[in-house]
Amino acid sequence: MASLFRSPISRHRTATGHRRSIAAMDLDLTDREAIHSPASYFARAREKSGDVQWSDHHRAWVLLSHAEVEAAFRESEVLSADRSGSFARVARSRGEAFQVVVDLLTNWMNFRDPPVHTRLREPVRTVFTPRAVAKLESDIQEIVDSVLDGFDGDAVDLGAAFARSIPALVIAAILGVDAADRGRFQGWSDDIAKMVFSMEPGSADDAPVVAAASEFWAFFGRLVERERVHPTGTLLTAIVQHRNSDLTEAELIGLCTLILFGGHETTTTLLTSSLALLLEQPERMQWLRENPDGYATAIEEFMRVGGPARTMPRKIASTHERGGRTLEAGQNAFLCIAAANHDEDVFTDPGTVDLTRDPNPQLGFGWGVHFCLGANLARLEATVALRTLLDRFPRIRAAGPIPEVRASAMGFGRRPIHVSLGK
Ligand code: HEM
Repeated sequence: MASLFRSPISRHRTATGHRRSIAAMDLDLTDREAIHSPASYFARAREKSGDVQWSDHHRAWVLLSHAEVEAAFRESEVLSADRSGSFARVARSRGEAFQVVVDLLTNWMNFRDPPVHTRLREPVRTVFTPRAVAKLESDIQEIVDSVLDGFDGDAVDLGAAFARSIPALVIAAILGVDAADRGRFQGWSDDIAKMVFSMEPGSADDAPVVAAASEFWAFFGRLVERERVHPTGTLLTAIVQHRNSDLTEAELIGLCTLILFGGHETTTTLLTSSLALLLEQPERMQWLRENPDGYATAIEEFMRVGGPARTMPRKIASTHERGGRTLEAGQNAFLCIAAANHDEDVFTDPGTVDLTRDPNPQLGFGWGVHFCLGANLARLEATVALRTLLDRFPRIRAAGPIPEVRASAMGFGRRPIHVSLGK
């Protein structure tokens, strides 16, 4: 059946502006060129097989143009994000103890469609607005300053000591976690990642993920309870005491773990990819020092070319036409953010990093009902962290070549960024 989807058609655009294809190309989002030269790889893929194409490699429809990806993010009725059914199936195939993992993840809003999604998101909708998040700037500044104060000597791996630690500390602070417990957040975010992957077929040992999930229930349960009795005045207070919230204890605990997971690894990767782009061309760092207002456009461009999320998966909820193809209910769809962000129909010269690019409708935070809850927070964190680093270390430079980024079809991974601070 798959070969039918890849049938050769003549190229170029139809009268309605749709791209058409000339020859098949089996898309592989982990191909070296797709990772390192996305502009040329995805332009060729769109040229050859259109904006919506079946990939035998991924066993999924892959959406490649900005217009298709943006539309798909909006159309949650036909492209479902709901994983609760598959989680329940996984639970039935595992030991009883595994239910604790499933219960936690089933309460994550990103794995649910409306109307359940709407109910889970409502209490946090107003908590992460630009105005609410702007009030966190002094707290974030304090965290960044303390991390930089802790640099010992001239040689530092910014991947570990800066990019990985700041987001964990910020999330711990917004959840009102005591300083003594904050150090555990970095490791916990890895444990949550293992939990998410434990839902995939053929994944490993239940025991460690069950232990981690049980620990989260206990820790975040205490945190939510404390908020009711002794509010900390943090974002968690606003969430727990929200007047329109009818979230259960289990849903609130699920939300805390989602905020920790959603906001940690992603922001870490944004910081490392931004640092790599800055250190590769030191004149970019100098430009930002001289044009501090430029951080706003620069960070959108870092998101466009190095945004942590490369692809968002969806399930086709009902058979429908898209980009001239028939997508059948039950099939998988990959909304390829990396391809959309390098679409030459929307971005002039998409292979070039332009820190002044404006407008920049990059889709790295998604779009539509699941649009990233923490987008404003991530932007603010990246601005404060990068600005403080560049201002405090005017002679910072890469200590040797920057290791290549590793990537899966879904996102970029961690990498070390060794620098000399030039103190
Ligand atoms: C650079 C950093 C970040 C990136 C690239 C990012 C990316 C994304 C993307 C692409 C989505 C859409 C998921 C989908 O459509 O299925 C999303 C959703 C989400 N993000 Fe982020 N995120 C970042 C930071 C954060 C932070 C700091 C938080 C924590 C406050 C956060 C919390 C969430 C939540 C809760 C959702 C689910 C929203 C929903 O389903 O309604 N993210 N994020």
